[in-house]
Amino acid sequence: MKLLLENAHIEGIRYYDAYRKHGGYRSVEKALKTTPDEVVEEVKKSGLRGRGGAGFPTGMKWSFLAKPEGVPRHLVCNADESEPGTFKDRYLMEFLPHLLIEGMIVSAYALGSNASYIYIRGEYAWIVDILEQAIAEAKNNGWLGKNLLGTGFDCEIYVQRGAGAYICGEETALIESLEGKRGNPRIKPPFPAIQGVWMRPTVVNNVETLTAVVPIINMGGEEYAKIGVGRSTGTKLISACGNINKPGVYEITMNESVEEFIYSDEFCGGIPKGKKLKACIPGGSSVPIVPANLLFKTAKGETRYMNYESLADGGFATGTMMGSGGFIVLDEDQCVVRHTLTLARFYSHESCGQCSPCREGTGWMYRILKNIEYGKGKMSDIDLLWDIQSKIEGNTICPLGDAAAWPVAAAIRHFRDEFEWHVTNPEEAQTRNFGLAHYADPLPVVA
Ligand SMILES: Cc1cc2nc3c(=O)[nH]c(=O)nc-3n(C[C@H](O)[C@H](O)[C@H](O)COP(=O)(O)O)c2cc1C
Ligand code: SF4
Repeated sequence: MKLLLENAHIEGIRYYDAYRKHGGYRSVEKALKTTPDEVVEEVKKSGLRGRGGAGFPTGMKWSFLAKPEGVPRHLVCNADESEPGTFKDRYLMEFLPHLLIEGMIVSAYALGSNASYIYIRGEYAWIVDILEQAIAEAKNNGWLGKNLLGTGFDCEIYVQRGAGAYICGEETALIESLEGKRGNPRIKPPFPAIQGVWMRPTVVNNVETLTAVVPIINMGGEEYAKIGVGRSTGTKLISACGNINKPGVYEITMNESVEEFIYSDEFCGGIPKGKKLKACIPGGSSVPIVPANLLFKTAKGETRYMNYESLADGGFATGTMMGSGGFIVLDEDQCVVRHTLTLARFYSHESCGQCSPCREGTGWMYRILKNIEYGKGKMSDIDLLWDIQSKIEGNTICPLGDAAAWPVAAAIRHFRDEFEWHVTNPEEAQTRNFGLAHYADPLPVVA
């Protein structure tokens, strides 16, 4: 069943005429006949959880928004999408820009936001043009501007382009950047719902979260909640990549097993050249890697499904997270040490530097991993790595520190033998350094 991508294949759906012809903007007509509180209630009933990574219930988040008299409130769409392996929001914005605008109008009405923003990652430059064209079309057809549908509600949407920093996807860093400052995360509390953009009450939601508001209003929150499994309601977009036959963006109903998702032709279509599955990172690069033996069955021997609860089953010891839905598959030829090094390099580069555990720790992890991968590591380095990651987790201003620590912890937990092999086979380990040479690497190898 498709709720978001149902019309994605229709020619011209990117443009207003085709979008409207196929039922576009119905949810705005419906929502604006009710009160903002009723829209919030409908979203609460739907059980929708934020699709940006943390999976926080959207209706609950909306109900936390402060409403002080005379102070404007803002809705901000998080279109930063820089988590490695995640490209679902790009697909939505590129092919269905009006779906996002429609979802934002309904959400802005529910929250009382007269000026809303789409903060989009700098590298998505061509999508900025697509969004701006769609916003102009929506405005020309009376869906944006003053006194929408005669309700007295004024609604504008502005697009703001970032400059390509991963940290600007973190909601408070995003807010700082939107205000024109360096994108450093803020200490919380106060949360954005109380003091967000320009210290005004703000809700930050992911692109997919906001588009999901459209089917919720059209079909009703209760009907939406019937799709999916347990607390994983509705549909979820998964961007699948790595060693699979059919990389792409898939809409799932969250009751597909992980095995079915990887091997069925409807989704990833299996692993090329009949290679064996080694591991998978199911929710974007920040979530723990899961070895093949824990991917299809949980530690209790139950089938693992593509939803929030089932992927997390067993905690980080044997499970992982749904995260942002960036599903990365590794076949038997992939080197987990090299892979972990690539991620560590990314987090070290992207740390904003405000907290010492993250600023220093990510750099240390990167350098130690680089030594191990290049055949210059010691056995004690593996324990040192473990120690460093454990001291970053939970000790930083924002979750980038955790995001850097978790992949390292999970790689050592599940693939310690591979790290040890690199230490005991330095010559061979060096010859397996395929792919690293092309990095213009700012950090020296520690002798
Ligand atoms: C380092 C970091 C990067 C993030 N990047 C994104 C991102 O690119 N897109 C996104 O929607 N959320 C991202 N998040 C999560 C946001 O902080 C926030 O939780 C999310 O936008 C809320 O939207 P949701 O409730 O609809 O999921 C990131 C968080 C962290 C810590
Ligand atoms: S955890 Fe890292 S990215 Fe987040 S505020 Fe601290 S230094 Fe910056």
